Order: sequence, then structure tokens, then C-alpha cells
Amino acid sequence: MSTAGSLPALGDLSLIGETTEVPLITGGATRYKNLDYAASAPALATVAEAVTELLPLYSSVHRGAGYKSQLSTAAYEGARVAVHGFFDARHDDCVVFVRNTTDAMNLLAESLPRDSSVVAFSSEHHANLLPWQRIHTVRYLGCPATPGEALEALERHMRSERTDLVAVTGISNVTGEVWPVAEITALAHQYGARVVLDAAQLAPHLPVSIRGLDVDYLAASGHKMYAPFGAGVLIGRPDWLGQGAPYMRGGGAVDFVTTDEVLWTSLPDRQEAGSPNVIGAVALGVAAQTLQAYGMDRIGQHERELGAYARQRLGAIAAVDMYRLWPEEADRLGLVTFNVRGFDHSLVAAILSAEHGIGVRHGCFCAHPLMLSLLRISDAEVRRARDQLRDGQHARIPGAVRMSLGLGSSAADIDAMAEAIASVANHGPRWTYRLDPSTGDYGPSPDPRAVPRVHFPLSWSHPGGGESS
Ligand SMILES: Cc1ncc(COP(=O)(O)O)c(C=O)c1O
Repeated sequence: MSTAGSLPALGDLSLIGETTEVPLITGGATRYKNLDYAASAPALATVAEAVTELLPLYSSVHRGAGYKSQLSTAAYEGARVAVHGFFDARHDDCVVFVRNTTDAMNLLAESLPRDSSVVAFSSEHHANLLPWQRIHTVRYLGCPATPGEALEALERHMRSERTDLVAVTGISNVTGEVWPVAEITALAHQYGARVVLDAAQLAPHLPVSIRGLDVDYLAASGHKMYAPFGAGVLIGRPDWLGQGAPYMRGGGAVDFVTTDEVLWTSLPDRQEAGSPNVIGAVALGVAAQTLQAYGMDRIGQHERELGAYARQRLGAIAAVDMYRLWPEEADRLGLVTFNVRGFDHSLVAAILSAEHGIGVRHGCFCAHPLMLSLLRISDAEVRRARDQLRDGQHARIPGAVRMSLGLGSSAADIDAMAEAIASVANHGPRWTYRLDPSTGDYGPSPDPRAVPRVHFPLSWSHPGGGESS
């Protein structure tokens, strides 16, 4: 059994904002405990330093003749090489910089041969469920009860229907379970299908080798990989990506244009029309380099242990219901989704934030079919929720609270979370909270906390609207 003392934080990888203090609704301030890495991770210090170093040298890329343009181009292309190396891509795999995983999946969907047949499990994140619908035939397989069941269902499907692409996640963003990607890929290839790996949750937490897993495409987001500067990546086989008209059309993607004819250029520029996000790509490249140098194995091991400790601590609270798709012994990382019996998930998240300085996410985590299944929501309840949402009413829609861990997480954060949840379960809130029916979110009311004084515009419905500090 893990103990807090045996799980030190990964001290030598510093993150920006690790010691930030936030105000508490009950007065005073506390160190912000970020337990929301699965949504977006803070920047690595190396990333922030590289961006600061680049800014005075920054200029237009690719076609600029100036010294700064040439240096910025070298930095942008250097990032491409670093990302290619981090994911251990094949020699001829193309690295396309995009905005995020969602963008990458939409780009791939537009690049597949017309009328492709795609299969995905309904447990996928919406980013890996929805892009396929528009121009292809998609089949959704039910949420599997074990990894073995996933393989069997997939094989059954591919035996009966032609499949061009299998879209699968590496780690579930709801349960933290690690999917058997290499086995799925071997099976898909046996039936002539390609595989796209949604590595949004996998890439920041475990080593990923495109060659080792033999996946055909991989999508990932910089903001989940400690490089929150707006870049993500799609990597993979160049044939489909390099044929036909590109997903985005415009400057940079062409060799020659007349009003009658367009000569599209070669990859990767063909899929990167418009001015690229140089800062974002460089940030992602530096994050990849830093994580690789540190050792993804080390990070994975640490987060596995922390995840087990978190489940142990939360599991010891009688009122907590934790959710998982697969048996307890299945491999999973540092992510726990749960409810506290008797309390709306939104209220629990609001209490954690306002009274304890703990940041989590709540709701359905962009994985509605999976959450409906995990929460065992009846068809009648699904219809009621849908009708209510159609009327713009978000109050008390089913969901859960998710704590997710990353590089800066420590056993102390988990202890703070477990103590806060035990306090909610045993004593309820220590403040009054108001439900906003249009968002479904609870907020403390009144809220006397001061608005921080910052140098960027803020537009938020800070409930208290207190004085600047
Ligand atoms: C498994 C998974 N896939 C895809 C995405 C979408 O990532 P992004 O919002 O960066 O496009 C997420 C985001 O949470 C995710 O967890």
C-alpha cells in the first residue's frame, strides 16, 4: 500500500506557477492544488524560458528573407524534428502542426479517401467520435468491459464489415485506463485497416513510440504536454495527407495559383496553410525534448503510483463512488473520476475550489456516451436531460468530478483532496453556494474574494466582484 511519504514529487522538472497562491472564500490564501492536468497542464519552465528567448528573435517564417525570419524558420523546423523524435515516428512520417488533438482529428478526417469506413468505441472523447461523421461511414462499438472484450468486439466488427480506419485512444480521459493500442493495431492491420491513436492523454504520461505501436497516425495537444501555446500535432503516413486538396486552403499550401488552377505544394506545408503558430510549435518541441531527456518511463511510473494512492485515499471515503470501465487490476494512470453521494458534482467542484484551493474538472468530460454508460443513466433520463439542455437549462445534468495528476502532483496534493472530500461528505459546505441554471455551475454566494490585478483584460462573471488586490 502506498503512503504519502514514499511518493515524493518529481522535483527536478519545474513547472510555471507551482507555488501560486489563490484566495479562499473563508479568508486567507493557499497554494493552488492543480488536480486538472488532463484538461490542460501548466508550462514547463524550460518551455517558458525558450519562448522568452525566442520572442526577441521572432519573425515571419518560411518566406521571410531577414535574419530573424531565417532563425524563426529554423526554430519552427527544429521543433518538427524534436516532435518527430519524441514520438519515435517512422522516417517518412509527416509531422503537421495543428492547433490541438481536435484539429488533428478533423484534418485526418478530411484527408481520408472519400467514404471511408471508420470504427471507434463509444467510450472515446468527442474529438475522436465526431470528426468522422461528416464525410465517412462511422460505426461505434459499445464501451467494452475489459481490454480483451475491446479486441473481440473490434475483430467481430472487422470480420463483418470493411474497415479503413480504427480510431482509438491511448488513455481514457475519464477512467485513466491504458488501452491495448499495440494489440488493436496488430488486429486492424490484419484486416487491412489503419489506426489513428488519440494520444492526447497518453503523450504527457507514458512513452509513446509510433514505430513500436505501429499506429499509422497519432494526434496530440501541446497544452496537455506542458506547452500551452496553442499548438498540437498530427503525425503519420504521408500518402492520404498529401493527396487531393488540403484540409485548409490558403497561402503557404500552394506552389502556383491562377484563377483557374491551383498547384498544391508538398507536405507538410500543404497541410499548414496560413501563417503557422511558430511560438506554439517551438514550445511543443522544447516540451518534447525536456520530457524525453527526463524519461517518460520515470514519469509514467511516478504517476501510476500516485494514481494508485489517489484511488486508495478516495476509495476509503464511504460516500465516494469511483468509476471505471475495466476491472480494478487493469493498468491505469493518475486520473480518478468520482461522485460524492448526496452532492451535485458541480457543487463538489465549487467547494473544492472556493474552500480548499483545489482545481478539478466536473461534468461529462467531452465523453458523453461513456459517462452515460458509467453513470448507468436510463434512456428516460437521457431524454429528460436532452430536452432540458435544448431549453438552455444546464442545472443538475448528470456528471462527475475528475481529479487528474501530472508532473507537479504530489502525495500532499492527494492528501489535501482526500481531506477536502471527506469534509464535504461528512459536514457539507462551509459556505453558501448558488446554482446558475444557465451553466449548471455552482458558485459561492456571496463571494468577497478580491479580483487579482493583472495586465490583461478579464471578462468573467466573478460572483463577488470584490476589490482589486
Ligand atoms: C482523450 C482526449 N482526446 C482528445 C482531446 C481533445 O484535445 P484538445 O481539446 O486539445 O483538442 C482530449 C481533451 O481533453 C482528450 O482527453
